[in-house]
Amino acid sequence: MSIAIAIDGPAGAGKSSLSKEVARELSFIYVDTGALYRTIGLAASRKGISMDDKDGIVSLLDEIEVKLAFNDEGTQIVLLNGEDVSGYIRTPQASMYASAVSAIPEVRAFLLDLQRNMAKNDNVIMDGRDIGTVVLPNAKIKIFLTASAEKRAMRRYKENIEKGIDVSYEDVLKDVNERDYNDSHRAIAPLKPAEDSITVDTSDYDFEGSKNLLLKVIRERM
Ligand code: DC
Repeated sequence: MSIAIAIDGPAGAGKSSLSKEVARELSFIYVDTGALYRTIGLAASRKGISMDDKDGIVSLLDEIEVKLAFNDEGTQIVLLNGEDVSGYIRTPQASMYASAVSAIPEVRAFLLDLQRNMAKNDNVIMDGRDIGTVVLPNAKIKIFLTASAEKRAMRRYKENIEKGIDVSYEDVLKDVNERDYNDSHRAIAPLKPAEDSITVDTSDYDFEGSKNLLLKVIRERM
């Protein structure tokens, strides 16, 4: 039987970078489910479909195939109709589109089996918003990884500045709060800790400290 570790939590808590590192330490496969929603968002934005055009987004699902794969370095890539779009899904525009499409039940249903299949035969660390509650309710370990909105916004702000992206801290914080609100207030699969999850708050830790904390929590339960 394969082992699944579910890592849920709000945007910017460090889920992806921490899960990736922890997966490497444990020799698990890391699956980033946000990339799937981002890819559908990208497909909609490329087609010029508006974020609020639910019907347009739902009919788009008939035309697209989304797949997760791994490159030679073992890094996850995401394919949209066979094209590697991993480099196009990290823009602020793609983030807002991802948040909008993720509130549509048909989109969530479209991605469910794909996510579950990833955990069938391999040990996985899967990160998202509803992994412990909906996608893998029987995951062996469920973590709710969080940090204060201000700390998360500051980390994202610094990342953007390092990449040469010109943004203000206030705008990043506004974006974080807006996405938190959308993700936790949507009717379907809202962001919330699974009843049997362990909350890990990284507000007061740097990356190394957060990684050690997360590994400790996981190892104690393996
Ligand atoms: O983790 P991320 O920022 O890449 O996620 C992008 C969007 O997708 C985010 O607004 C929430 C949504 N999402 C979701 O609803 N369920 C998941 N399992 C993963 C992401």
